[in-house]
Amino acid sequence: MAKLHIVTEGDRVLRLKSRPVTEVNDRIKTLLDDMTETMREADGCGLAAPQVGVLRRVVVVETEPGVVYELINPVIVEKSGDQHEVEGCLSVPNKSGYTHRPAYVKVEALDRNGNPVTYEGRDLLARAFCHEIDHLDGILYIDHAEMIDN
Ligand code: NI
Repeated sequence: MAKLHIVTEGDRVLRLKSRPVTEVNDRIKTLLDDMTETMREADGCGLAAPQVGVLRRVVVVETEPGVVYELINPVIVEKSGDQHEVEGCLSVPNKSGYTHRPAYVKVEALDRNGNPVTYEGRDLLARAFCHEIDHLDGILYIDHAEMIDN
């Protein structure tokens, strides 16, 4: 595994739309492993591939230590409720702000073996799924957050 460089706000790559993964191969598995290591080293609870300069629809989320969600080509297929909580982003260091997110989401994706998976997330996990999937479309939480003065 390798720790990857996390790009920060101002880097154009964060604003581009990522392409779907067409084949879940060893390169994608290595990317997933490296992204998880990078997320953990940075003490984050989620990371999207464009944050490490890779414009592919790949996300890792770990809101509960030891429980890693690996999402390839994720799509939110259901959402409900509303939460207004504080979030941050490894690509926007030392900042945080309040966002509105669904309280519940259902996500369909492929796992590291290319098999379809469905995950449900509530509260923090729902927030993390939404935040990371937004990254795949070039959206940062600061685009719609009420920022907190630090
Ligand atoms: Ni982020």
